Amino acid sequence: MSRFIDELKRTHRCGDLRAANEGNVVVLFGWVASRRDHGGCVFVDLRDRTGITQIVFDRDYAAKHPGAAQHGSAEEVAAAHKLAEQMRGEWVIGVRGLVLSRGSNKNPKIPTGEIEVLVLEATVFNKAETPPFEISDDVETREEIRLEKRYLDLRRPALQRTLIQRHHINLATRNYLSSQGCLELETPYLVKYTPGGARNFLVPARMAQGKFFALAESPQLYKQLLMVSGFDRYFQIVKCFRDEDSRLDRQPEFTQIDIELSFTNQSEIFRLIEGLIFAIWKQALGVDLKELFPSGQFPEMPYAEAMTKYGSDKPDLRFDLPHVDLTDLVLEHGGGGVPFWVEIADKYKSGALRADMRPEIVKAIVIPAAANLSRPQLEDLEKGLREIKGFRGLPRAKLAEDGSWTQSPLAKSITPELRAAINQACGAKPGDVVCFQFGKESLVHTVMARLRSDVAKRMGLIPEYGHGGKWSFLWVVNPPLFELDEETGTFSPAHHAFTRPVDEHLPLLESDPARVNCYRYDVVLNGFEIGGGSVRLHDPEVQQRVFNVLGIRDQDARDKFGFLLDALKSGAPPHGGIALGMDRLTMLLSGAQTLRDVIPFPKTNQATDLMTGAPVEVDASQLAELRIKTIT
Ligand code: AMO
Repeated sequence: MSRFIDELKRTHRCGDLRAANEGNVVVLFGWVASRRDHGGCVFVDLRDRTGITQIVFDRDYAAKHPGAAQHGSAEEVAAAHKLAEQMRGEWVIGVRGLVLSRGSNKNPKIPTGEIEVLVLEATVFNKAETPPFEISDDVETREEIRLEKRYLDLRRPALQRTLIQRHHINLATRNYLSSQGCLELETPYLVKYTPGGARNFLVPARMAQGKFFALAESPQLYKQLLMVSGFDRYFQIVKCFRDEDSRLDRQPEFTQIDIELSFTNQSEIFRLIEGLIFAIWKQALGVDLKELFPSGQFPEMPYAEAMTKYGSDKPDLRFDLPHVDLTDLVLEHGGGGVPFWVEIADKYKSGALRADMRPEIVKAIVIPAAANLSRPQLEDLEKGLREIKGFRGLPRAKLAEDGSWTQSPLAKSITPELRAAINQACGAKPGDVVCFQFGKESLVHTVMARLRSDVAKRMGLIPEYGHGGKWSFLWVVNPPLFELDEETGTFSPAHHAFTRPVDEHLPLLESDPARVNCYRYDVVLNGFEIGGGSVRLHDPEVQQRVFNVLGIRDQDARDKFGFLLDALKSGAPPHGGIALGMDRLTMLLSGAQTLRDVIPFPKTNQATDLMTGAPVEVDASQLAELRIKTIT
């Protein structure tokens, strides 16, 4: 039987001890974060997930601290000191010791800085090889190396703090949703492949050769079935799998807080989610969002307004910098002499472009003179936009005192009338820089949305990463139900085929499907979509009309979602739901830079796991058993 652990139980964690503990005899376990050998005296910073305590191995303890002798023998202290002489970083040790005041040598940088522990007895549980990087938040080691040794990187205080916050988010979620009558129920990961939506990971089925499961991209259809089964309110903290390109806010394997309610409507779902987010912020951050949102509700913005004003369905409203839509003006002026604009105006005039849908637009953003951006800085902004596929340039104009344009490729061709009209529409003043973008709506929006956020960062309106202490929540509501493929003229579901059209637009399903909006909503935080959902289509008649628009024939529908169609015909309550991206939520709440910093074992941008080397090739025999051949 070993003395430490079996007999000497841990009394405190390394972040616990304060001045009030002076005189206590304590037992601490942890990792050697650093060690300073001053001959007779060895100082070690002992670390666990709660923090750091300075421990002291002092051969001359009896002379300095006569009171300590009653708690430990001179032999044990000498043996401990000997051990301390050999200790190295990341060794795992246990100590028994006396808590002493640090007197005038306090360390105000750490919460335990008022005390130190004089070691009376020690053990080494395990030695450690020298780690390839220092376990510290300030060390700039390449991320590849840190991901390879993720178990070491995870010892860093910042990552530990974030993952502890994540635990609190889970806890708050379970408590809150359970208090709201939601049941935590599980749904399968191995599911039927359905085309559309995200690209699925496929899993070969050994027992049914040549056939495949898909890994669930979300529990969507199953949670609807749970409503049909009468479970009334459901939630699940659940892994989802999508074989998409990773980004800063995307991982192939991620977690949702997934929710579905029966007998509900959009506003009831909003109130539930607001309550959940309030509970999470309170528990994980100690922040009371009621102070920012006294009504208890987040603002709502129609999708169309978000796109017009900010070119994004997830606008960051921590700052303003709205887009100015100049399309009407430019058309009124027949393009105002600017060759590209004349071309667009002509297309509308001839009917080649549908005026009520505005497939091509002209937009501007005003960078105020006060931002004081130099020409190279403006060029830098433009450079950043080159990452966007299809981007061709960012024409701009600086307003002179008399309202004329300088530093602008448009200055020569534009008519004075349109120029004046644009200055006025933009509210631009001398010294302001107006940036333009025109052409296909989706590209203009992508470019201008990115520009808006880049300018805000340049102007210091928001930090490069993190929340900057601001929590801008927003519901973006009622987007179009369908997406029109301009080339083929066919419609596809903008989200999924079971979203309910808004009541007032039902008559448009046959006459003008492109104008049908739906009960779909996203919850946005600081420019990130942290969740999305919809009220579902449970009425077979409307569902048939939606399928007609989508050109889904009966047999197609049966092949794809026959089980859901049958279920919806067997007594389906009206229902709707939402899923929050737990990883994104944690990233934003904790101020982390990427999703990788909030997931214990994340994948790289290339969707690989650098620690284990996955994915790997497998034996020919394993493939043969699955009747699979690989093509190289
Ligand atoms: P959706 O596809 O919008 O909806 O996903 C919901 C939320 O999940 C997060 N998310 C991701 N997070 C990290 N990495 C990814 N690859 C990733 N993809 C999505 C986002 C997103 O808002 N079944 C529907 C929900 C519903 O209708 O109830 C769904 O999955 O934060």
